Amino acid sequence: MCGIVGVVGHPQAVEILVNGLKRLEYRGYDSAGIYLQDHQQLVKAVGPLKALEGKLTPEINGTLGIGHTRWATHGKATEENAHPHTSEAGDFILVHNGVIENYRELKEKYLSADHFYGETDSEIAVHLIAHFAKESTNTKEAFKKALAVIEGSYAFGLIDASDNDTLYAAKNKSPLLIGLGAGFNVIASDALAVLDYTTEFLEIHDGELAVLTAASVQLEDACGHGVKRESFVPEIDSNDLDKGTYPFYMLKEIDEQPMAIRRIVKEYLHEGQHITPALLAALKEADSINLVACGTSWHASRIGAHFFSEWVAKPASALLASEAGYRMPLFSAKPFFIFLSQSGETADSRQVLVRVKELGYPSLTITNVLGSTLARESDFALPILAGPEIAVASTKAYTAQIAVLACLAQALAPKEEQIDLAHELSLVANGMDSLISEKETIAAQADQYLATTRNAFYIGRYMDYEVSLEAALKLKEISYIQAEGFAAGELKHGTIALIEEGTPVLAIINDPVTASHTRGNIQEVKSRGANVYTIVREDLAQAQDNLQVPVVNPLLSPLVSIVPAQLIAYYATLQRGLDVDKPRNLAKSVTVE
Ligand code: F6R
Repeated sequence: MCGIVGVVGHPQAVEILVNGLKRLEYRGYDSAGIYLQDHQQLVKAVGPLKALEGKLTPEINGTLGIGHTRWATHGKATEENAHPHTSEAGDFILVHNGVIENYRELKEKYLSADHFYGETDSEIAVHLIAHFAKESTNTKEAFKKALAVIEGSYAFGLIDASDNDTLYAAKNKSPLLIGLGAGFNVIASDALAVLDYTTEFLEIHDGELAVLTAASVQLEDACGHGVKRESFVPEIDSNDLDKGTYPFYMLKEIDEQPMAIRRIVKEYLHEGQHITPALLAALKEADSINLVACGTSWHASRIGAHFFSEWVAKPASALLASEAGYRMPLFSAKPFFIFLSQSGETADSRQVLVRVKELGYPSLTITNVLGSTLARESDFALPILAGPEIAVASTKAYTAQIAVLACLAQALAPKEEQIDLAHELSLVANGMDSLISEKETIAAQADQYLATTRNAFYIGRYMDYEVSLEAALKLKEISYIQAEGFAAGELKHGTIALIEEGTPVLAIINDPVTASHTRGNIQEVKSRGANVYTIVREDLAQAQDNLQVPVVNPLLSPLVSIVPAQLIAYYATLQRGLDVDKPRNLAKSVTVE
């Protein structure tokens, strides 16, 4: 979703802004803009960053600037709505991520005489700062007055057009970091954006305001008290951000899955890192486990819920954050909450975390970004060690989340339920490797089954049903084939009405107990004309099956059976000539509710 970059004190400010915005492209956006203070230059463009770059001439330069990629929420993707926004007299320039919930009230109360160019809530914010500037002695005071009346989520970068030396920033519920450079400082909504320029970062907490110059950073809380905070170096290598020889990040990230699983085995199981006695004690104390997440992470949570129910005998369920945020279900007396989020910034999940904290319940976040909002705000945090995931469609984060959940559940499991998880996960990693080596076969099968179809169904039972949900999401979000994942037995209760001559039905069979039932469902759809493709565990395979997956522990089977489904989605999308990494309308980091 929207991205912010700002810089003060660097002669190549334009380069930092443009490269930073490029690094944030993966989050999703539909327009972009930059402002350079030194010569008061504002450039905006709708569409890909190339359109913005096309408008940049060598005369556009300076040492102080802000940049933004916008993913439209309030108002269409137009230049008027693109950031940076300026106040009416052009004396303040601002970029904003988040949603200002009371923008209508603010407009009516303070800005009824103002003229606005676009339709965004963000434009209200910069007008508001200009309004308060009239009754303030300096920009910081005006900014603080505006922040005090704004309700909602925000990360702001602000420049005062009469000041060539200062960059202002503030945040509440939307991500923003300060990067500390030698002779310059930067702000960014993600450390990835500016890693080529600095590796030392400072967190800004909710409600805080920052004043940056080339040589200094001052942080203060909402009451105006100065804040001292240690800087940190994120565990990301900027080399991880390159595609290398891969045509798309998604393919690279699919291929990285065995490596991520082996890293989890090493750090969690061989070296005993990450899961602390305090975390285990809190989990043991709980009488239920509630996993909270969205999208792919919710699919991983559903699998985690099976681990806790089956290995630990603790009631466990997976809650959709976007639903639970509005209506919390009834919980047991001592619930424990596990938030799963690749980005650690998903606003729907954070909304639930805030509520969970108000209720006084313990929480853990399992994430790919340990410095993220969810990781910081929950009681415990565990890394999934997958390395940066850039493709919008999540692949390695899904399997790494499941592997970490397995480590956690096994750490809690009574003796009789303990398995040699290090060995089992090593088999999983080897199984993934062998499936990845079948790319060519899978590409041809994707072409054969999905080249022209408008819809498709994934079916399976038990763990295969869980994989079907994720397999269908992968297919639909990047290829735009309308794909649904179904519990195989449910089809005949309604959805089978959609099966007609040639409808692709992709069946996953990994579970010996339910295999014959799923085979029965395959017959039902075949007799109605379905074009059936089967992904089947080696020892359950029959001559007519299309793809065999290696045998692993049944509860861990989603880790292998998802790999062909990811590859099918990838190749079906490629064959349709679409951008695999940046599907339409989607954002990588969904920072609005
Ligand atoms: C789909 C996908 C999304 C995310 C969801 C939650 O491929 O990536 O469904 O899983 O938006 O995001 P995180 O995990 O960052 O909270």
